[in-house]
Amino acid sequence: MVHDKEFEVYISYESILERTQEIADKINLDYAGKTPVFIGILNGVFMFAADLMKEIALPAEITFIKLASYQDTTSTGNIKELIGLRANIKDMDVIIIEDIIDTGETIAHVIKKLQELEPRSVEIATLLLKPEVFNKNIPLKYVGFEIPHKFVIGYGLDYNGQGRNLKDIYQIKEL
Ligand code: IMP
Ligand code: MG
Repeated sequence: MVHDKEFEVYISYESILERTQEIADKINLDYAGKTPVFIGILNGVFMFAADLMKEIALPAEITFIKLASYQDTTSTGNIKELIGLRANIKDMDVIIIEDIIDTGETIAHVIKKLQELEPRSVEIATLLLKPEVFNKNIPLKYVGFEIPHKFVIGYGLDYNGQGRNLKDIYQIKEL
């Protein structure tokens, strides 16, 4: 139980690590001879980023950004600002690391902001993808698991702030 909802184990930590190793192997091959900059999107990605980076055998850099929402007083929209991005990604090969891509709104926003800084390339590595809801024309180069449109927690992912510390990924239990 987390808050009012019941969850059950969906992807074991063992399977996560196995798949993470496969993704790292691909990245190591694809970026051989390069020095990519990995940019993790907090908070949810902290566990995946840690396990992925341990298997990256490149002279890579890793940094993290956070999306902060605030109400702009001059517009009705909910503006999301990127916090913590080092400006110097110009002409660099960027790999964005995400825990989960749902509609793709978040990743689309992050890519738009990053492109303004003129990187040489931008690719995405996401542990989870919900293909039924993803509706963006954005190529996702590294995807860990495609999952149904059901809420998941654990391994960094939260439900109203809780569940991030769980080692496995859990899926909501529907009655
Ligand atoms: P998107 O912008 O719709 O792609 O949503 C991405 C963000 O929504 C993720 O970074 C998560 O913070 C959150 N999210 C989407 N689906 C889930 C889920 O099943 N569990 C926990 N968080 C989720
Ligand atoms: Mg996230």
